[in-house]
Amino acid sequence: MTVLSSKVGRADIVTAMRILVFGAGALGTLYAARLAMAGNEVALLARGRRLDALREGGVRIRPRGSRTLPPAPVHIVERMTDSSHDLVIVLVRRHQADEALRVVTAARDASDVLMMVNVASGYETWRAALGARLLVGFAGAVAGLAPDGVLEYEVAPAVFQPTVLGEPAGPPSERVHRVARALADAGFPVQTRDDMEDWQYAHAAWITPFMLVTAIAARDPDRLEDKALLRLWMGATREGVRLVREARGRVRPRALSLVAGLPAPWLAAISRGVLAPRRMRERFVSAGHDSRTEGLALAAELAAVAAQVGLSLPDLERLRALATA
Ligand SMILES: NC(=O)c1ccc[n+]([C@@H]2O[C@H](COP(=O)([O-])OP(=O)(O)OC[C@H]3O[C@@H](n4cnc5c(N)ncnc54)[C@H](OP(=O)(O)O)[C@@H]3O)[C@@H](O)[C@H]2O)c1
Repeated sequence: MTVLSSKVGRADIVTAMRILVFGAGALGTLYAARLAMAGNEVALLARGRRLDALREGGVRIRPRGSRTLPPAPVHIVERMTDSSHDLVIVLVRRHQADEALRVVTAARDASDVLMMVNVASGYETWRAALGARLLVGFAGAVAGLAPDGVLEYEVAPAVFQPTVLGEPAGPPSERVHRVARALADAGFPVQTRDDMEDWQYAHAAWITPFMLVTAIAARDPDRLEDKALLRLWMGATREGVRLVREARGRVRPRALSLVAGLPAPWLAAISRGVLAPRRMRERFVSAGHDSRTEGLALAAELAAVAAQVGLSLPDLERLRALATA
């Protein structure tokens, strides 16, 4: 595994790329802006009201707690042009990925396609649609639109979650290293991996219960005081990790396996500790407004994998029911 540190705003970038970012939500806006600021030629594909807002106000981003940066030099586009890019980065929600892929594959553009989308059922569908064009990765940042229309973000520390990147199988290739360098030059700590599919299964195992809990809290913030809900959250996380071990034969990163194996009272104490600061509870509630549909889609995928290997996920099922109600 290689970790590249980030260098923000390098003027002497030698590997400028032509990149189309598909999806102008939180992370699409962030990655497009920073890649453009680092000297790449970047187009951002948007739709609906977001398209209007970007055309009117430009691409504006702000590191959390800091000042808004000058508008990023990103071209806003409404559809995929037939001109060839070096790379298309797809940054949409899980339940939107199939439609996005249909649009991407319908365009006469032979570029590599980097899917940066949560998934809990492996890469089979993406491989079938994209063949050798497929690259896979996942964001190492948290972002959301602020009330003033500016995209607010935090890049996660490398030790916690760098942007991860790789081939769908096998060791990182030359093209992976090139994209990794472009992302690092744009200010994202990057880790290239040779086990992306395992990594994404494990990520889905813990992020899905998290998303469902935030969705429940978004409707009723008081639920975060409910110990039974926190137990369910931790129980569903353990079930997810057990499922990954059963379905994939290993859990990556290993640390997740260790944490999920802690005694239940310890896990309960950890969840209460995470939620102790008011700021943290507010973030849960605000993340939950956008995560419900994607969390339910991922939970359905985990349930399908569990059925294949003959496992049941009772705590996840209960969380799913609460988030659906
Ligand atoms: N936000 C975070 O902090 C964060 C952190 C880590 C990982 N992630 C993951 O990263 C992925 C992307 O998340 P996100 O937060 O960037 O999602 P998001 O804010 O919901 O953005 C998705 C964007 O893609 C657009 N889109 C979807 N399908 C499209 C299509 N066919 N044509 C044109 N535009 C389309 C959506 O438009 P509409 O709004 O019109 O549907 C929306 O603007 C998800 O898997 C998420 O779980 C997010």
